[in-house]
Parts: sequence; C-alpha cells; structure tokens
Amino acid sequence: RHLATASAYPSKILGVDYNRQIAVLDALKRQSKRPLTLTEKLLYSHLIVDEQSGWKLEKIERGKTILQLQPDRIACHDATATMALLQFISAGLPRVRTPTTVHSDHLVISEKGAKEDLERATSEHAEVYDFLSSASRKYGIGFWKPGSGIIHTVIFENYAIPGGLIIGTDSHTPNAGGLGMLGIGVGGADAVDAMSGMPWELVAPKVIGVNLTGQLQGWASTKDIICKLAGILTVSGGKGSVIEFFGQGTQTLGATGMATICNMSAEIGSTSCIFPHSPAIDRYLKATKRDYVAQSANQVRDILLTADEGSHKYYDQIINIDLSSLEPHINGPFTPDLAHPISQLKSTISDKDWPVELSHAMVGSCTNSSYEDLDKCRQLVRQAHAAGTTKFKVPFLLTPGSEQIRATAEADGILDELRDAGAVVLSSSCGPCVGSWDRKDVDVKGHEKNSVISSFNRNFIGRHDSNPATHSFVSSPEIVTAFAYSGRLDFNPSTDKIVGTEASFLLDPPIDQELPRNFQTGINTFQEPPSDGSSLAVFGRPQRGNASGMEILIKVSGKCTTDHISPAGPWYKYRGHLENIGNNMLTTASNASLPNDPQLLGHTRNPLTGKVDVVPEVARDLQKMASREHAALEPRYLGGTAIIARSFARIHETNLKKQGMLPLTFDDPADYDRICDGDRISLIGVEEGELQPGKSVTMRVQGIDGSVWEADLNHSFHQGQLAWLRAGSALNFIKSKTVG
Ligand code: F3S
Repeated sequence: RHLATASAYPSKILGVDYNRQIAVLDALKRQSKRPLTLTEKLLYSHLIVDEQSGWKLEKIERGKTILQLQPDRIACHDATATMALLQFISAGLPRVRTPTTVHSDHLVISEKGAKEDLERATSEHAEVYDFLSSASRKYGIGFWKPGSGIIHTVIFENYAIPGGLIIGTDSHTPNAGGLGMLGIGVGGADAVDAMSGMPWELVAPKVIGVNLTGQLQGWASTKDIICKLAGILTVSGGKGSVIEFFGQGTQTLGATGMATICNMSAEIGSTSCIFPHSPAIDRYLKATKRDYVAQSANQVRDILLTADEGSHKYYDQIINIDLSSLEPHINGPFTPDLAHPISQLKSTISDKDWPVELSHAMVGSCTNSSYEDLDKCRQLVRQAHAAGTTKFKVPFLLTPGSEQIRATAEADGILDELRDAGAVVLSSSCGPCVGSWDRKDVDVKGHEKNSVISSFNRNFIGRHDSNPATHSFVSSPEIVTAFAYSGRLDFNPSTDKIVGTEASFLLDPPIDQELPRNFQTGINTFQEPPSDGSSLAVFGRPQRGNASGMEILIKVSGKCTTDHISPAGPWYKYRGHLENIGNNMLTTASNASLPNDPQLLGHTRNPLTGKVDVVPEVARDLQKMASREHAALEPRYLGGTAIIARSFARIHETNLKKQGMLPLTFDDPADYDRICDGDRISLIGVEEGELQPGKSVTMRVQGIDGSVWEADLNHSFHQGQLAWLRAGSALNFIKSKTVG
C-alpha cells in the first residue's frame, strides 16, 4: 500500500510518515497544478494509494467522493473502548495494525475530589478497567489508567503530530488541530476497521475557511472565537466540512488556545478543524519535550503544514473574524450555538426566565483545562485576594486536563491557591462535562431550576447532571472565574465591580501565560504494551452469547436517533459495561403499538407473555431462546437480526452492516403501518447467494390474527459489504482472511 519513496524527511514519528504523505501529494500534484488547501493536503496525503486506486485531484468531488484513508493513529475512551475492543478481538488478529491508545476518563464520577473519586471509580469499574488494561496489553494498545487525563488532552501532550491524521471514538477528536494534526471523531466500528488495517472511509469534506485578523484584547480569549463561530454557523452549519483557519491572526494564538477552538468545532457539526503551523505550535512541542517532532515539522512546514498560496479560492465558504474587536461570549442555555456577546447578555437575561443566580462554576473538560487556563484562574484569584475577597461566591469545580497539567499546576502553587479560594479539585477526567457528577447541591430528581456556568463545550439539556431544569452556559475559564466571584449571570467584568467582603473592586483581565517554566510529568499512569502479548490473557471479558428469533421487539414511531437507541445522561456511567448499558436500549423510544403516554416510552409487549415491559427486559426474555453469535452492538448483543425501518442515517446503517445485522427499508413505506405487535416475520431472499446488490428481499408476515401477507424490503449492501454479512460481521470477514 505504501509508495516507494526516498527518505528525504525523518522516518515515522509515532505512526506519522512524512515521506509517504509528501510522495502521495507529489503524485496528485503531478496531475493537477492547482494549489491545495491545508485540509486537502492533510487528508489526501493519507489516501491509500495502490495500483487500483488511481486517485486524481479533479475526480475528488467534495461531499460525494468516498476517500479511502489510512489514519496514523486511533484513540478510544473507556466509554467506547469496551465495545470496540470486543469487536477487534472477534477479528482474531494478534495485534492492532495502527497505533492505538485507550484512555480512562469518562467513568470517573465527580463528587468529593480527585483522591476519593478515583478510589470510587477503580472499585466500581474494576471489571471494565481490568478488561481494557489486559486487552490493551495483549493486543499492543497503549492504556492510560484512570487519573491520566482527558483523552484529547493526553493525545495533545503525547501523540499530536503536525500533519498527521488521528481518528477517535469521541466527537471532540478535532482537538488535535491545535497542533496541526487532523482529528476526526468516528464510531467504534470505524475505529476497529482502522485498528485491523482496513481502509477507513470518509466522504470528501467541504472546506470552510475562517480568516482571523487582528489580535485578541482584554477579556476576549480563544474560546470566544469558537463561541462566536458557533453563533454564526449554528449546530449544523459545519456539517460535512472541515473548518480551516487562516490569516495573520492564527499566528498570534497559543497552541492550547487553538486546541480549544478545534475541540469545540464539534459543536457546529464539522468533520474536523485545523490550524496552520505557527511558532506557538513549535513552542508547545518543545515545552512538552518533543523537540524531535518540532524539528521534523519545521522541515515540512511549507510543503505539508500550511495551505498553498492561492488555495483560498478553493474554500467552499469564507468567514472573517476580527480578533481585535471580538467580545467575550457566553453561550447557552441548552445549546452551544445560542451565542451572547457579554455586553448583550444582561438585557437578554432580563427578557428570559433564566435563573440569574449561579449555582455552580466549573473549569475543566477537554476544551479548557490547560496550564494556561488554570493560570488565568489563579491570576484572578490573586487579584480578588489582594482586594480582600478570599472566597468564591458559588461552588467552584476545577478539573485539570491531565496528570501532567495537575502535577505542574500543583508544583507551581496554582491548585493550592484555587483550593484556598474554595475550589474543589477533581481528578483529571471528564466529570460533570459528561454527566459523571454525583450532584447534591440541588434537587436533581425534583428538576430544581438553576443556572451553571462552565468552560466546557456542550450544554445540552441534562448533560451535566441529568436535570432538565439546569440552565447550562459555556464560556472561557477567566469569565467563569470572574462569574464565580460575582455569583450572577448578568455580570460583565469589563464594567461591573465585584462586591467583595471588604470592598467592591474591578478585576483586570488575566494575561496569557502560555506555558509553564517546566512541565512536570507527574505520576506515571501509562501502561505500555509488551512487544509480544500473544501469551497474555484478557481479564473480565464480558460474556458473549447467541441470538436468534424473528419476533418483533418494538415498532418505533417517530424519530429514532442514537439518543433513542442508546441514551446517554445517567446511562453514561455504564458505557463500558455491556450488561448494564444494554438496559438503556430504546428506553426513550416511542412504541407505535402502545398508547401515546410518556410513562410508556421505551416499553413494548413481550410476545412470549403478552405483558408490557421495558424493551431491554423483553429483549432479554427473547434472548434466552437465542442460538446465534452475538456482536457487540446493543441490538445485536440483545439478540437482533434485522432492523426494518422507513429510512436510516448513513453512519448507523453502515454500523449495522458491520455488525452483521440486516438494515432493511420498506419498499412501500405504508407497509410499516400494517405491522402489529405479536406478528412474526420471515425474510425470504437473504440466504447466501440470494442476497444481491440492488435486489430486494421479501418479508413474509404471519399476523397475530392468522393472516399471512408479503412485502418487499430494500437494502443497500454492495458486493464487498455482503461479504461482511456472510461472515457474521466485518471483523469476522477480516478474521477469515487473516487467521489460519
Ligand atoms: Fe470528556 Fe467532555 Fe471532552 S466528556 S472527552 S471532557 S467533551
């Protein structure tokens, strides 16, 4: 698959191969002289090039062409890694074929503070961690233990290489763009393909150019660039696009600040986000003891890490942002694209029914928990202290992004100063950002109305504490800290004084202290895999059983998104545990065969007993009669064979195919209305050799009333995908090809 090239550049760095990338770009540019955007350079240089592929620049149509890519690296967190590793194991390969890491960050519940919370997590999730740790050792995967840090921060500190391509099973993987690495969030099945060395497919994205001019002033920070952009583009405005920053303003920003922007680009639905190479990237690489990466990157800066001159006219859209006039922003509640410049928030609040008193202030998450962020909080704490105010007005939670940041902030006295002001320092994990928060200060179950402000990226309903009445606002760490002293949402630190214990005072905006004098490495929380893990055992491996049966589990009415199939919120804590997570399947879906009653959401009639029960319970009853191999996806794990729908979202349909499920659509959508609870279904034309691309299958329905009728169902399997189905799953197929 690799082009034979002369090694003009340094050999592979952590999976990134500049020689190969530049050879691929050279080959493309030989056919077409047009300049390339930075996004095109980074993506197309990862194309899999062989005799058959014949990639030509002119033939790549944005939004249409499916690119076959070879990522340099894969990352999974503990809420997605169990499923991914189970699938990988089923492929029968001895070792991952692309460098991979697993990060333990989502499952730690925040409650009392780092020490106690980590102890609770290691006890409650021992089975998950044992499984992830032992499977990682066996299959050549780097494992970051609980307390190591948040996945994207750890990647940024250790694995982000300018010009590389990383895919991760988390939507904020674009964070790596702050160092010029293209990061793209994917589903577990895609990650497993790449782990197995299969091509990873992506529809060629559009490119939105964002031109930064000027320089940030006063209280404005990098967070405000992305908060403003979210307001312009909205939560879906970046869909199918990479956000590519350019212009003189990009050279004025720090690396972790650019990561904040790339990270939160997920909130506008973009595929990824990228910055060109800059002195700040060079400084950060050197500060994190990666001089060799910095040197190599400098060698390929013009050819690979910056957009070609004249390429801007190939952007699909251009947005201009003047940093000099940018105001601090506060976005929310309930959606990150509801952007409020701080000067307008006061009047907006008085028009709305939002609680103006804050109940919590939180600094952390993969978006804003860098050393620079924590240092800015400390500067404000010092100012308040000097003015005679020693404590925050509201509870303050602080999450350092990684063990490296924690150890450095601890050594530099930052954490002690924040603790003295009242902050609770949590473990370096996701915590309240993902709802892993054992919140006690408000009546969560009673849906007590309250407002919180955080430096996180997302603020959808119930995201932090499962309370739909929590109004969550996102902003920069310095605005969050200033608000923690004011205690109110209608505050503007540029114009309003803090009413302190001794006097009222105006806070000055903090000064960017981009990097510490010295990064401390802290406690070693990394488990390096041995070079040969073949003799090692995997512990705590969840049981996998069989499944069969064509009873209808549920006929869903209305929308059925992934949030209906597998809701997050309180369920997130079980994401690494197959048995528990299975209990959330379809629990917020509406059953077309039951009365439209909120109490009956997620319920269905058990075809064996006739009783109405929650979907997972009924599925488990049916599963007891099972006789065929399970895959890891919940519907398959709980015994499903086919999902029959009016239509599918593209990624979900592909995922189902990869699990060996049959995603089928009604040829005549009206047939959906004829299906009743208790009917039994046979599929005709799905046997080996019968199922063909473009050929429909027949559904024979034995009605509960004794009637028998037939209908056509369609599928979208192409010939290559049919091989997955025949093998039971895409990974079984790989296994059949690779294992003796
Ligand atoms: Fe974790 Fe929140 Fe980031 S869940 S990975 S800290 S968006």
